[in-house]
Amino acid sequence: MPEAAERGDAQHLCASEQLAERGDAMVFDVLQYRQPARAFALRFDGRVVAYLNRCAHVPAEMDWQPGQFLDSERAFILCSIHGAAYEPSSGRCVAGPCGRGRLVVIDVEERDGQVYWYPSRDTQPAFAD
Ligand code: FES
Repeated sequence: MPEAAERGDAQHLCASEQLAERGDAMVFDVLQYRQPARAFALRFDGRVVAYLNRCAHVPAEMDWQPGQFLDSERAFILCSIHGAAYEPSSGRCVAGPCGRGRLVVIDVEERDGQVYWYPSRDTQPAFAD
């Protein structure tokens, strides 16, 4: 696998300092299966993770307020609609109506004080044709 720095498809998301530990997420637009959708990135246990903003229970956006995904203890990503709880580090459902589901992972990388995400076959930049 090539070094991440060599990958040409990196999409700049934000500066590292914009993602505080267990703070608000950075929300960004993507195309999921060519349809407009949103994704988010947040910092948890020091690591930046990113997911499609789409609950595994019902395909709806989950944030309470724009960019606010974590519960009051800042331990889980909590869907504001019916309370599904996801493990922030993996996106795996741990409680609530999401069953064995999990959030769709967006490949993300932090380097040189900046955060980048990487498109996949299913998830593309919003400005793609
Ligand atoms: S839509 Fe998220 S828990 Fe139902």
